[in-house]
Formats: sequence, C-alpha cells, structure tokens
Amino acid sequence: MAEFPQVRLHRLRRWEQLRKMIAETEINAGDFIYPLFVASGHGIKREIDSMPGICQLSTDLLAKEVEEIARLGIAAVLLFGLPETKDELGSEAYSPQGVIQKAIPTIKEAVPDLVVVTDVCLCEYTSHGHCGIIVEGYVDNDRTLEILGKIARSQAAAGSDMVAPSDMMDGRVKAIREALDADGFHTTPIMSYAAKYASSFYAPFREAAECAPQFGDRRSYQMDPPNVREALREVAQDIAEGADIVMVKPALAYLDVIRKVRDTFNHPLAAYNVSGEFAMVKAAAQKGWLDERAVTLEILNAIKRAGADIIITYHAKEAARWLRSH
Ligand code: PBG
Repeated sequence: MAEFPQVRLHRLRRWEQLRKMIAETEINAGDFIYPLFVASGHGIKREIDSMPGICQLSTDLLAKEVEEIARLGIAAVLLFGLPETKDELGSEAYSPQGVIQKAIPTIKEAVPDLVVVTDVCLCEYTSHGHCGIIVEGYVDNDRTLEILGKIARSQAAAGSDMVAPSDMMDGRVKAIREALDADGFHTTPIMSYAAKYASSFYAPFREAAECAPQFGDRRSYQMDPPNVREALREVAQDIAEGADIVMVKPALAYLDVIRKVRDTFNHPLAAYNVSGEFAMVKAAAQKGWLDERAVTLEILNAIKRAGADIIITYHAKEAARWLRSH
C-alpha cells in the first residue's frame, strides 16, 4: 500500500510563479562583477577571438561602456591593463601614468557609484609574462611582494575602490594591506584570489590580457587542481592576513571548493567564472548545440547555489539583460 500522505514533489512544479516562490537561489545583476581589458592608446576596440563579444578597449571608449554596465544594474567592474610597455619588473603596473591609473578616474567620472576593482598582478606587465619577479628562472616570492604593495598603493591613489591580487604569492595580502595602510588607504578593501588554481581554463584570458608566460607555466605558484583541503589553508591564510573578500577561481569546475569555503568561513565569497568557461558556452552556442541563455543562467545559478555571494563573469551584461526579461 502507498504510504500516506503521498509524496508528490511535482505539486509545486506546475506553475512558473510557484517555482519562483520556492526557488532557493536567486541570481541578480547586483551579484556580478564584469571584467574589462583596458588597452593603451586611442580608439581601440579589439574583440578577442576566443571570447566573442569581449573587447580590449582604450580609455577614451570606457565611459560609454561603463554607463551601459551601470544601467544594467551590474555592481562592479574588474580592470585588467594592457600596458604600453612591458619590462622585466612590470614597472608600468605601478606607474602613476600607467594604463589602469589613467582609466580609473575616467570610469569614476562617468559613473561615480560603479565599484571599480583593480587587478593586482604582474603578468600583464612583465616581458616574461609571469606573475612575479624572475630570479634564476623562478618567480621570487618575497621580492615580488614589495612590488605588489606598490601596485596596490598606486591604484588606490588613482581612485580604485578595491584591489584584487591574483598573483598567488605567499604573504601578499599582508604586504598589500601594510602598503595601503602606510599611505592612509585604511578603507580600501582587498578581494584576494585566495584559492586560485593552475587551470587550463585561463587560455582565452591570456589572449585577452596578452599575458601568457613566455617560458614554463604557473604551477609553481598557483594551486594544483586535485586539492581542496589545501584551498582551505590558502583561504585561512589570506583571511588571517586581512583579506576582506576571498575568491575561488575557476568556478564551474570547482563548485565543491566554493561549497567547502562557504561552509568553513564566514567571509564574503567571490567566484570567478573564467574565460575558458565562457568560451565553451559561446562556442557550443555558436554551433547551435546549446541554448546560450538557458545554459548561462543555469551555470550562474549553480555558482551561487554552491555558495558564492559574488560572481565575476564575462556573461554579466548578457545575463543582466536576460534576467530583466525573465
Ligand atoms: C593573471 C590572471 C589570470 C586570470 C585572471 N588574472 C590568468 C592567469 O593566472 O594565468 C584568468 C581569468 C580568466 O581566465 O578569465 N594573474
């Protein structure tokens, strides 16, 4: 005999309105951060082959772009710079005349309340494409820390609202916090790429940011993909050093890591839906193999359901539009 009352989970699935009412997770444009690739020069709008719809933009074209982003309700932008010149030390990264330092005021002027987050890393600025200073063929962690502090200070001085170190050097959150505080930027938060994996999903980004390593790879400083307990150590360390928001990156192939961090710590948590995850969806959609809108919203939902508060995504503008017309 059937048990009573009979379990029929279908009862609440019959109407869209009802499904929405009982939805456990909701994504909003306000959860998104949209990455921007800022190019040196004028009149540059160069689409990235492997990232359809994503362009390198020069500063003079930024105002229009950020006005659109803000109109869509997106909370923040994350800036990556393509410098005019690269060198061994990545010195344009902390130059007051650097590409990012010039872009920040332009954005703040166009949309004062859009949160401007700036990437703190060397790989876009170094001739060798690594995220730190190279000594005898390897990234020298401690010499890099000093430069990371300089980058963060110069970005804060240019008006950055939040700095986001993506380099994965040990001790960088502390170094950056000290550098910011020394210059009076006590209220500038740090969003640290706490658990950043050495992932093959970054390939399209390296085309966009022109930062592929010229020799070797990043496995000696980014995390090894099989590890999750180690991610908790990375996050604990960054929190101890003063990180205000912690991040897991990539997102889609690391949903278990997001969940574990969410369950272990009370810090705000960001997840980076990276370039390769975006490119896969775009490529399949272009072939007519997947419904881009449905799949993208499902992925963003999954990242949020896994425990992320903030999602950094190249789909932010499209998703914001789709959510509006939902
Ligand atoms: C640079 C950096 C990378 C990404 C963000 N910052 C590339 C890398 O570490 O090689 C990847 C972002 C993406 O794939 O969307 N430190």
